[in-house]
Amino acid sequence: MTVESAVQLLPIPAPAASQFGVEIRGLDLANLSDEDFKIIEKALYEHQVVLFKNQQSLSPYHQYQLNHRFSPNSTIYGHSNNTKKTASILHPDLKTLPNQPQVQLIGNGFVPEYEGLQNAQLKHPHHKTFHKTAIPEAEDLDFTRFYRWHIDAALYGANMQPPKVTTLMAVKVPGGRRQVLRYDDGTDDNLNVSLGTTAFVSGEKSYEILSDEAKEFARTTRVEYAPHPYIWMSKAKSLPTGLGLFSDGLELLESELPDVTESDIQIHPICWKNPVTGKLALQIHPSAVRKLHLKDGTIIDDIAKVRDIVYGLLRPGIAPELVYAHDWEEGDMVLFHNRGALHTVCGAFAPEEVRMFRQCNLADTEAPAGPDA
Ligand SMILES: [Fe+2]
Repeated sequence: MTVESAVQLLPIPAPAASQFGVEIRGLDLANLSDEDFKIIEKALYEHQVVLFKNQQSLSPYHQYQLNHRFSPNSTIYGHSNNTKKTASILHPDLKTLPNQPQVQLIGNGFVPEYEGLQNAQLKHPHHKTFHKTAIPEAEDLDFTRFYRWHIDAALYGANMQPPKVTTLMAVKVPGGRRQVLRYDDGTDDNLNVSLGTTAFVSGEKSYEILSDEAKEFARTTRVEYAPHPYIWMSKAKSLPTGLGLFSDGLELLESELPDVTESDIQIHPICWKNPVTGKLALQIHPSAVRKLHLKDGTIIDDIAKVRDIVYGLLRPGIAPELVYAHDWEEGDMVLFHNRGALHTVCGAFAPEEVRMFRQCNLADTEAPAGPDA
């Protein structure tokens, strides 16, 4: 029997200029046919952010299976599960579900039991732990910042290539107040956001708005990431926009890092090609960059200069009118194209405000395709 498809693709309330985001209705994520998956895959690569509402009953297993369909050769969590054993800055933010170790519980507050996890103390990252300056305590309820713009990726390890997609499900969302997100970078830029929003910007839009000269630079330059980047940067402090770090010489020395294997260092094109549309996305993790490799073979390794160049490329793309700040409701499942968008957490919760999100992404075996692919 054939049933007429009831699948609907609807726009989400993203700012028009951001050019991304779509909601899909009428698909059962726990029972996806190959045709269903193709609809999701196409939507993801065309819109970068895909929203499904009312997914409370979807199991961690089915969440993992959704990621696995995008990367059928991958079974390992995007950062592996080693972050717990190290001085990585990601360590406090992730609690692995014992029954589905590719899925992490993140959020805020105390969770007595969830999916085999016992007595989990979750802590939503606050910008004051990472930024060099912080919003004064008296203003902290009403104002916030972008915490850290990033790609979900280990960025170290030959077989730990950036995940294609991250799935993020809101299990529990505390009652929302709103905050004003300040850029605090000498501009008056700000955004009115829901508490604990996740902010997204499209890498494709970021590329599109560059000058021709900057586009050419972006197309022909590669970024070398620091070895063990999340340990390397663990003492460094962020710019107020969350778009990279100050260069105060606080990065760990190679002698202070775990053993470094040369072949595990990742060097990626600045521009990653969308596998469906062929569009180029400016995809740089601004806090993890270490060197730039120019087309003529020159390597820029002055870290302050590297960061200045990267900041100059990325800052136009996080202008307020280009940011989609998702207003989470319980049951929201968001898939985002991790090779075509940057994202960041925002906001600050009181210790008693319980928030639970399930996050999954898988380290890929294939590196992102560059402009010449
Ligand atoms: Fe992330």
